[in-house]
Amino acid sequence: MKGIFIALEGPDGSGKSTMIKGLEEYFKNKGMDIVVTREPGGTPIGEAIRRILLDNRNKNMLAETEALLYAASRGQHVMEKILPAIKAGKMVLCDRFILSSLAYQGVGRGLGIEEVRMINDFAIKGIRPDLTLFYHVDPETTLHRKTRKRGGDRLEKEGADFHRKVYHGYLEILEKYSNNVKVIDATKSKKEVLNQSIYCIEEFLKGRKKNETYNCHSPGSGRTKFN
Ligand code: TYD
Repeated sequence: MKGIFIALEGPDGSGKSTMIKGLEEYFKNKGMDIVVTREPGGTPIGEAIRRILLDNRNKNMLAETEALLYAASRGQHVMEKILPAIKAGKMVLCDRFILSSLAYQGVGRGLGIEEVRMINDFAIKGIRPDLTLFYHVDPETTLHRKTRKRGGDRLEKEGADFHRKVYHGYLEILEKYSNNVKVIDATKSKKEVLNQSIYCIEEFLKGRKKNETYNCHSPGSGRTKFN
């Protein structure tokens, strides 16, 4: 099989990490070779950068420093791990990718979507996922989920306004870069969200086989409308 690069995106608390485990299990059972990875991180250098980024002691980190560190981790990740896996015919499931930087640093931190895209393109040479699954859940729901969870890293600890900005940032970005992005209603039950995710990936794979465009409306689920 040709390798495939799939990114999972969404606000904090949208349930991506749970989905990635379910997808890994499902596609492994189908005999596929899966690489599960995450950002920031995914490589020893990337994981070291992750510790700096998420460390609660780094309260005075500049937004620019933050954006450059995420891009640096991503560059290392793409070249050292993602591209070789795709070349070897594997399915790469990546928890977050460039859309996270556009939403969190570009909009959440106010650095600008285009500016953040440019530094990322320097780092990753324009590489993009074949398919991005966006887990759509409104900030009020994720903030409610968050308050039930104690602790949290430097980014998770940002206030509600920051997370609302990130959410609206994602919506703005999806308007601009909707290519190969499928929106999944993450407010549904875990089982339904997993089924929607599997459906999107299988449709993509079928479409690629037939070399034709595909449509990812799972029966009855419908595409989430932005509002
Ligand atoms: P993580 O624990 O992986 O969060 P989650 O489980 O919600 O994905 O921590 C990653 C944090 O870093 C998360 O709050 C989002 C943030 N982030 C950015 O701000 N920019 C980025 O480019 C990436 C990849 C993550």
